[in-house]
Amino acid sequence: MRVHDTEMPQRPLVLVTRRLPGEALALLERVARVRVWDSDEEMPRRELLAQVADADALLCLLTERVDAELLAAAPRLRVVANMAVGYDNLDLAALAARGIVATNTPGVLTETTADLAFALLLAIARRLPEGERFVREGRWTTWAPLLLLGRDVHGATLGIDGAGRIGAAVARRARGFGMTILYTARAPRPELERELGARQVAFDELLAHSDFISLHLPLTPETRHRYDAAALRRMRPTAYLVNTARGPLVDSAALDTALREGWIAGAALDVTDPEPLPATSPLLTLPNCLVVPHIGSASVATRTRMASLAAENVVAVLEGRPPLTPIPH
Ligand code: GLV
Repeated sequence: MRVHDTEMPQRPLVLVTRRLPGEALALLERVARVRVWDSDEEMPRRELLAQVADADALLCLLTERVDAELLAAAPRLRVVANMAVGYDNLDLAALAARGIVATNTPGVLTETTADLAFALLLAIARRLPEGERFVREGRWTTWAPLLLLGRDVHGATLGIDGAGRIGAAVARRARGFGMTILYTARAPRPELERELGARQVAFDELLAHSDFISLHLPLTPETRHRYDAAALRRMRPTAYLVNTARGPLVDSAALDTALREGWIAGAALDVTDPEPLPATSPLLTLPNCLVVPHIGSASVATRTRMASLAAENVVAVLEGRPPLTPIPH
């Protein structure tokens, strides 16, 4: 079993569900016994339920479902620190009912995730994965006027669906490419309008007028399948969808049809539904679909900061202080 405890039984116990970068474990070990699932693979659910039984704190990832079943198996739990900004994997009502503090890692991953969203946007528009395959397959015989023609990013219209922290960071990058920026948000973002000339629009208008749509919404019952067949049909046939938020925002079957039938030009996905996407997924047979394995925040510096912030949240609660970044209930 890839689980280890440090000594000192009088200290609280933290269960960490995966190997972490940086100093996170050292931070925890200053105040607690630490039990780590010492692997890059997911902790099997049965193992998680068994190992959390005597834990005072849980440091987990978006791959762990923290629900009533898990909480019932964890009578001592005081804090759940999610090493992610998104927290659709946590049942907040069940946590609140037990008085358990829940935390996430906002802020530290904003710029890194925005970098990836923009990388995906550029890659799908300029057909980088197709070009790379073309070269590796030895098919590059000459320069040709019609070879791998894509779409211009500069000067195009970008729709930011959900202008929160990450959406705004993507919009700032887009400004450097001379893009026109439309956005949806619960409340207007005057600073984006001032700084970037961005314009708040209704969802319908975003769909109809964007050359690129980048998703930056949390996954909730209201946003699940926001991009269904009807929404995808309202997009331009020359438009691209970029998803670095959560897979189920998009109806995968509808997206598959949209890409095959040319309702939209292409999609670049860091997140999928299901996730992980099986290698047999029909989406992976499409040249106009680029998929990467949920690596939005995956830089050395950012993953290190995320792990440390999650650990600091645990330490704060175990020491009786307010956490740094609680999830508002
Ligand atoms: C990653 O998807 C996160 O929510 O941090």
